[in-house]
Amino acid sequence: MERRPLLAGNWKMHTTVAEAEDLARAIIQSQIPADRDVLLAPPFTALSAVGKVISGSAVLLGAQNVCWEEKGAFTGDISPTMLKDVGCSMAIIGHSERRQIFGESDAMINKRVAGAMQHGLTPILCIGETLDERETDQTFRVLEEQVRNGLAGIVLGSGKKIIVAYEPVWAIGTGKTASVGQAQEVHLFVRELLATMYEKNIASEIRILYGGSVNPDNVDDLMGQDDVDGALVGGAALKADSFGRIINFNK
Ligand code: 13P
Repeated sequence: MERRPLLAGNWKMHTTVAEAEDLARAIIQSQIPADRDVLLAPPFTALSAVGKVISGSAVLLGAQNVCWEEKGAFTGDISPTMLKDVGCSMAIIGHSERRQIFGESDAMINKRVAGAMQHGLTPILCIGETLDERETDQTFRVLEEQVRNGLAGIVLGSGKKIIVAYEPVWAIGTGKTASVGQAQEVHLFVRELLATMYEKNIASEIRILYGGSVNPDNVDDLMGQDDVDGALVGGAALKADSFGRIINFNK
């Protein structure tokens, strides 16, 4: 099964509007091979401006989170229709920083996934174990729980799609990347799990991204793994030259 690679930049809480516009401009000027997707996920304040910069290019716009409701008393959150309004097609959901720093639970993440899909946004569901969980052999239990709970009640197929991002918490922003073997092992595990929850052909179409200290030096090896279908990039996505190299990975 050929899955179209997706290289996604999660800008986290970085960039003013002007910085975001400059970065987006520089990224669309880099050569982007036609066989892959590129997504930029700037902070909410820069979505509209970045959306304008990339309009007419092949680059996609994504949000770093999304609420399940269209509108109402949800101070501090953002609705799927608001995100669609500024040109978003995807939303990152359940990032470990949301889980750990802001206490987002699997149940809340599940509501966000459902809400995004209901409004035609493709969720990028993030999962990942902590160092302690890895060292105590709980990695697969934790990931299974995050996948099952995050996707509880979610129907896939006939145009309804999700993306999964495996981001081991110990590899985020630490310069420590999972080895290609560790990444492939988890991605295959997740795909097999998805095949038990959905149909095999649906699981084989789901893109599973790797995230955690992806950089120009390790992207080729990671993308060379059978079940690694893309990258969710933090720090290295904030510079046009390093993200440009990541976009231009060679297997
Ligand atoms: P780094 O690439 O900075 O490790 O961040 C990864 C990440 O959290 C992307 O969502």
